[in-house]
Amino acid sequence: MIRRFDGAQSAFHLQTAGTSYLFRVLPTGHLEQLYYGKRIDPESMEELSSLTEKRSFEPGGVIRYDTSTPPLVLEDICLELSSGGKGDIREPFLELVHADGSRTSDFLFEKAEISETKSPFETLPGSCAEDGRAERLTIILRDREYGLTLELSYCVWADCDCITRSARLVNDSGERVEVERLLSLQLDLPDSGYGVTCFHGAWVREMDRDTVSLPAGKFAMESRAGASSSRMNPFFLLHDPRATEDNGTAMGFNLIYSGNHYEAVEVNAYGKTRVVTGMNPQGFRWLLGPGESLEAPEAVMCWSDRGFGGVSRNMHRFVREHIVRGEWKRRPRPVLLNSWEASYFDFTEDTLLSLAGAGKELGVELFVMDDGWFGERSDDTRSLGDWDVNLRKLPGGLKGLSDKLRELGLDFGLWVEPEMVNVNSRLYEAHPDWAMAIPGKPHAEGRKQRVLDLANPAVQDFLIGKMTEVFSSADIRYVKWDFNRIFSDVYSPSLPPERQGETAHRYMLGFYRVMETLTARFPHILFEGCASGGNRFDLGILCYFPQIWASDNTDALSRARIQEGYSFGYPPSVISAHVSASPNHQTLRITPEDTRFHVAAFGLLGYELDLRGLSEEEKRAMSEEIRLYKAWREVFQFGDFCRGRSGNLHEWTCVTPDKSRAAGMLLQELTKPNTQFERYFAKGLEPGARYRFYSGDPGGLYEREDTVASGESLLSAGVKLAPGFGGTGRDGTIRLFLDFSSRLYLMEKI
Ligand code: GLA
Repeated sequence: MIRRFDGAQSAFHLQTAGTSYLFRVLPTGHLEQLYYGKRIDPESMEELSSLTEKRSFEPGGVIRYDTSTPPLVLEDICLELSSGGKGDIREPFLELVHADGSRTSDFLFEKAEISETKSPFETLPGSCAEDGRAERLTIILRDREYGLTLELSYCVWADCDCITRSARLVNDSGERVEVERLLSLQLDLPDSGYGVTCFHGAWVREMDRDTVSLPAGKFAMESRAGASSSRMNPFFLLHDPRATEDNGTAMGFNLIYSGNHYEAVEVNAYGKTRVVTGMNPQGFRWLLGPGESLEAPEAVMCWSDRGFGGVSRNMHRFVREHIVRGEWKRRPRPVLLNSWEASYFDFTEDTLLSLAGAGKELGVELFVMDDGWFGERSDDTRSLGDWDVNLRKLPGGLKGLSDKLRELGLDFGLWVEPEMVNVNSRLYEAHPDWAMAIPGKPHAEGRKQRVLDLANPAVQDFLIGKMTEVFSSADIRYVKWDFNRIFSDVYSPSLPPERQGETAHRYMLGFYRVMETLTARFPHILFEGCASGGNRFDLGILCYFPQIWASDNTDALSRARIQEGYSFGYPPSVISAHVSASPNHQTLRITPEDTRFHVAAFGLLGYELDLRGLSEEEKRAMSEEIRLYKAWREVFQFGDFCRGRSGNLHEWTCVTPDKSRAAGMLLQELTKPNTQFERYFAKGLEPGARYRFYSGDPGGLYEREDTVASGESLLSAGVKLAPGFGGTGRDGTIRLFLDFSSRLYLMEKI
C-alpha cells in the first residue's frame, strides 16, 4: 500500500505485508527519510511527528542549508536523496557537472504521483508483475537553478516485503550536463553499528561470504569488470551484528543491472548510516544533452526481523515472482546433459550422439552441445564470432543433430558466446572496428578473445540477426549464453572521444536490447546465462535468462558452499548445477556420487561428464537419482529454500509453498572421529502438521530412516539419526558418514 499524508508538507508511507518505509517533504523541499523497518500504521500527519528529527541549534563546523530556523544541516539528517554540494559531505546519490563547471546540485520536491501500474523502463530491464499491476510512487524533484528534473520511482511488492527504487534524470534545461554519477538507491538510517555481509569471490570460487562490522568510516563493494562479476556480487546484507540465520533484523539489497556496480555503507560523523547502490561511478561519464534523459537501474531492498533466512525467503519470492518472466517462469526445468566436461572441444556428431544416448538411457531430457561446434573452433584461440556450423564435426548441421536427438527422444540445446570475438576469426577480419579497443593502441588479452562493442547499434543488429539465424536453424529448446572475459581497454570505436565514459553502460544497454529482441522472438527457448560460471550472476541477467550456470566449479563440496552463498539472495530455481566426474576437474577432489547428486539436486539438475564409461552399478545409481529428482522436481526447483546449520555441516531444506512435501540434505565436510550422534533439523514445515520423514536413498545403499514427526518437532528437536560409525563395531545399521558424505531426506505431510 502507498499512502500519502498531506499537511503543510507531504509525507509518504510505503507499506508491504510486514514492513513500513516512510519519508516526508521538508519545508525546503528536501526529502527526509523517517523510518524503515517493521510495519507500523500511523494514521495521520500528526502521528508522524514522533518519527521526525528535532533540532534546535547548528553544531560547530557544519554547513547550514539556508537561514531558516530551526537550522537545516544536510550533513546530519536522513535524506532520501543527496545531491551533493550543499553541506552533505557523505556519498552523494548523483554528481553532475553543469555547463558552468559547477558540481553542486540541489533537487527539491515538486510533486508526487501514485499509480497502480508500472510501465517498463525505456532502456533497462526491471521488476514486473504478470498482471501488470504494481503500486508505484513517483516523486518529481527539480533543481531550480539548473533546470533539471529527477524522478525517483518506488514500487511496493507487498507479497515479498520488497521495495524497489529507481531514478531518471531529465535534462529540460537548454544546456548539456555531464552525469558522473546517478545511483539507484539511497537509504539513510538514524543509527550505526551494523554488520555488512558481502559475497565476493573469483572464477570457480564464487559467493564466499564475509561480514565486517562498521562502527565508523565506509565499506565499499563494487565491480569494475564490465560485468557484475564474481569478484563482488551486487547482493549484500546490512544487519544487526548479532543477527543470525533465524533471528535479528537484517536488510537485503540488490540491483537489477549486469554491469559495473557500486555499493557503499557509510557511517557519518554523527552516527548515521548511509547505504547507496547503483551503477559504478568509476569510469562513468554520460553527456546528457538538452531534452535527453538517463535512467538508472532499479534497486531492490527488503527488511526482516527473522534474520538472514527471512531476507533470503523474501528475495527468493521477489526473484521468482517479479524478476524471472516468460514461458519458463514456472515451468519445470529439464534434466540436462552438457557435453563440456565430457569432451571439451573434441567431438563429432557420432561421439555426441553416443554420449546423448547414454544420457537418454539414464533419464536425461535435454542434450546440450557446448563450445566447439562452429567455425574452426578446436580450442579457445579461434573462431568466436563465426557462428556457422563446422560441417566436418556435424555433417548434417545443427538440424541434422537436433533431428537425430529428437529420434532419441531428447531435446536439443546449444552453447553460444555472442558478445565476444577471437582475433583469429572471419568476423574480426571483416570488422576489426566492432571489437572494443583503443584505436592504434596495444590491447590486453583475456582468454584469447576480445569483447565486441555492443555500444555500437550495428554490432547489436549483427548479433540479433546472426543469433536469429542460428536459433531458427534447428529445433533448439535451450541456449547457454556465455561471456568469458572481463573488460579491458574500455573504448567504443563507434563513440566520439568525449563520450567514452558512456561505453560500459551503453554496452549493457546494447546487450539488454539484444536480449529483449531475442527472448521475444524465441519465447519457447530456455535461456541459461553463463559467464565463466558466475561472473554475471545478477538480477539484470535473470530478467532474460530464467537460470544461470552458477560456477565452473562442479566439485560437490565447493558447490555446497557456492550454492549456499547464492541462496542468500537467489532461489534454487535460478541456480543451475551439474553432477560431474570424480576426481573433479577443477579441484581434483574425489567425492561420492550421491553427494554430487544431492548438491546438484538443490538447484536445476544436470549432468556434465562422460557417461559412456560408467559401470552398471553407476548407471543404476544415476538413473535412480534422476527418477527421484523428477518425482521431487517441484520441491527442489520451486520450493522455499531454508538454510540450517552451515560450516562443517551443510543442512538444507526445500519445502513446497503448500508445505505438503519437503526435501532435506545433510552434508558433512570432514568426519569427526567417534561422534555417533547426529540430528537433522528441517525448516519451513507446517508446525502442527505430521510428516513422514524417510531416507531419499534411491539406491538403497545406506542405513534407513523412516519415522513420523510434526513440523514443529522436526524444526525444534530434529530427527535423531542412525548412529554414525564410532571407530569400532561396524554393521549395517550404522551411518557411514565419511568425509564429503551427505544424506538426502524426504518429508511428506500425512
Ligand atoms: C565457460 C563456461 C563453461 C564452458 C566453456 C566453454 O568457461 O563457463 O561451462 O561452456 O566456457 O568454452
